[in-house]
Amino acid sequence: MLMLLALAFGIRCQAGGDFKMTIIPGRPEKYTGYQNLTLADNDCVQYCLYEPTCAVVYMKDGYSDCIVFSASQIQKVLQVGDFEGQRVAMKMKQTYTCGDEFEKNSMFGSETTNTSYIEYEIFIGSDSLWTFTITKSLKCPSNYKLFTRAKGLWCIGLVTVTGGVTGDNSGLSCASAASGAILSGLESMYETEYIYGKGCLF
Ligand SMILES: *[C@@H]1O[C@H](CO)[C@@H](O)[C@H](O)[C@H]1NC(C)=O
Ligand SMILES: *[C@@H]1O[C@H](CO)[C@@H](O)[C@H](O)[C@H]1NC(C)=O
Repeated sequence: MLMLLALAFGIRCQAGGDFKMTIIPGRPEKYTGYQNLTLADNDCVQYCLYEPTCAVVYMKDGYSDCIVFSASQIQKVLQVGDFEGQRVAMKMKQTYTCGDEFEKNSMFGSETTNTSYIEYEIFIGSDSLWTFTITKSLKCPSNYKLFTRAKGLWCIGLVTVTGGVTGDNSGLSCASAASGAILSGLESMYETEYIYGKGCLF
């Protein structure tokens, strides 16, 4: 019981869009790299919230260093006492409320870029370590762009042909362009703009 109270202590949240930042007193314990930006406390948290490749930020009282980790860089975060003046904000999928106990937070997040998608989960051990695990990692073939469709993720690429082409032959050209590629229509204005924008380049 004491353990649970200790873990629940000091969790704050900042929400925006599909995600929220869950903030705990803590510091990164295990990681493979980071980016060092100059952003004061709240700006640092907001930066991460809206930056697709940011999963975690670390801040310290009295400094405006904003230490930024992507999901593939951060491995473990150590929760510390509130009095130590250092905080870690972790990006998670939005839930209706800001859980003041970790069980009420979604404890998973994702990074979507123009060409890739990564999903991660966060587990808390009895040692106060918040451990990040990549559970899904997808990447479009080179020269393809990632779009999020109603039915899921979709990589779109263009095959150029000279002169006219039949529907059947377009299907064949697509199939030979990349493994698993199929001829497909356009689902959104984003996709249309992308295709037309690309067309002008050729
Ligand atoms: C971040 O950059 C600042 C200013 O250059 C430097 O003082 C600080 O030690 C750096 N922090 C890390 C963790 O690299
Ligand atoms: C991602 O795509 C958008 C729109 O096509 C473009 O404005 C942006 O610069 C791209 N970002 C990267 C990192 O390539």
